Amino acid sequence: MNEYYNFLKKNYTFTLNKNYKMSLFIKKPLSHLLREADDAEKGMKRTLGVGALISLGVGAIIGAGLFVRTAAAAAEHAGPSVTFGFIIAALGCAFAGLCYAELSSSIPISGSAYTYTYATMGEFVAWIIGWDLVLEYAVGAATVGIAWSEYLNNLLVNVLHVGAIPYEWCHSPFQVSDLGTRGFINIPALFIIIVLSFLLIKGTQESALVNNIIVVTKVAIVILVIVLGWGFISDANHTPYIPEVTTYTNESGITHKFGGMWGIVGAAGVVFFAFIGFDAVSTAAQEAKNPKRDMPIGILGSLVLCTVLYILFAHVLTGIAPVEFFRTNGKEASVAAAINTYMTGYGWLAKFITVAILAGFSSVILVMLLGQSRVFYSMSRDGLLPTKYSTLHPKYKTPYKSNLFVMLIVGFFAAFIPGDVVGDMSSIGTLFAFILVCAGVIILRKTEPNLKRQFKTPLVPLVPILGIIFCTVMILGLGWANWLRLIVWLLLGVIIYFGYSKKHSKLRQIEETDLKL
Ligand code: ALA
Repeated sequence: MNEYYNFLKKNYTFTLNKNYKMSLFIKKPLSHLLREADDAEKGMKRTLGVGALISLGVGAIIGAGLFVRTAAAAAEHAGPSVTFGFIIAALGCAFAGLCYAELSSSIPISGSAYTYTYATMGEFVAWIIGWDLVLEYAVGAATVGIAWSEYLNNLLVNVLHVGAIPYEWCHSPFQVSDLGTRGFINIPALFIIIVLSFLLIKGTQESALVNNIIVVTKVAIVILVIVLGWGFISDANHTPYIPEVTTYTNESGITHKFGGMWGIVGAAGVVFFAFIGFDAVSTAAQEAKNPKRDMPIGILGSLVLCTVLYILFAHVLTGIAPVEFFRTNGKEASVAAAINTYMTGYGWLAKFITVAILAGFSSVILVMLLGQSRVFYSMSRDGLLPTKYSTLHPKYKTPYKSNLFVMLIVGFFAAFIPGDVVGDMSSIGTLFAFILVCAGVIILRKTEPNLKRQFKTPLVPLVPILGIIFCTVMILGLGWANWLRLIVWLLLGVIIYFGYSKKHSKLRQIEETDLKL
């Protein structure tokens, strides 16, 4: 048993009875978590004001969702009405974000939804959510890695004019080019994941300055596209704004509805990816100067800012080029491709965007890899994953084994699975995690009514219930193939839990020992 659990054993009295110990829903007592929080966060300074929180949110949010998935959602689900999809996704995020903020301010310890769930809904649900967060962080990082690969190719062809990487070396084996070449492995995506993983192991943290530069650049290119592209909107591309209901068959051979209400809901599920990462703001609760006031402003502020930018951007993008373009020549690196093809005289903008996007995507990947390795680290400390993943590097003091393991998983997805598939898996996994977080707020209000909450979700249970409804609707919009992928993923998680994690859970081990005493 490691030091950490010896510490827990020394400091806490266990009053749980034997039946409870056997329960799947054994909960980490809140007192554990709060003491851990005190211990772990000692010295953490409250330095973040509203501006810094919003910048953190925007820095983590804008990425492949906007620059790659928007065009995909328009092409495959909703045409120009992808803008309404952004509104649905933003509302779901706002409700879930307010719930996230309550949990993170009352249980201020890193580890995100996994940690909150261990205290509120018990070990089994916590495991499921931790396993599910792999979809948000690891599969999300792979999605952005694949988008990075598309824009790298665009850089090589349109900016440096040195020619493209051969199709088979930058696509998954499930993709076939228009000329009939089958992909083999996505080397650039794998490359960026490996480089950034080693950067994390060395403990290199992006300085606030670099982060601010990236945030400003990202917002600047979005605004430039909106302002300069506005004059190139063609009414024909926006008519009808909500397309008639037809069907669309995607790359994987799956046919689903295109257009109409279901098209919008499907698009919402796809572009939801563009909002993933805003929960980074809520996890900064313990560093906020005045969490009560600043957290909701930080969360809702970054959401509102991004939503307005996203809607305008999507409106312009679908106005510049017809939907057909995003299904064919503009399928990859769509924003740069649309500018190059339809905005005569603005080649420089396409070049600038390509370079800025490559930098911007790298910072998103870094945040996601970091998030994933932190969750693995917490799960391994709790014994639900092998404890070797929580050993720190002797020199760099980072959980390097956890980073390496995450690199293997993310690298595999990035190298061999198409971007559309990993993007939607990431969306559905995160939506599922949000539902559990919303439910967690309602449960914790009942089970721990006196817990000190620095921030309280307004209008409970209405807000959490609305969060659950919106997220469920988006899950429905993502279609049966994604439901199936989520179910298979969760079943795999259940098998690992009963085969390994339940037997090795540290919480159970302490209690068993105590009962023998
Ligand atoms: N929201 C992040 C992106 O769009 C994950 O890349």
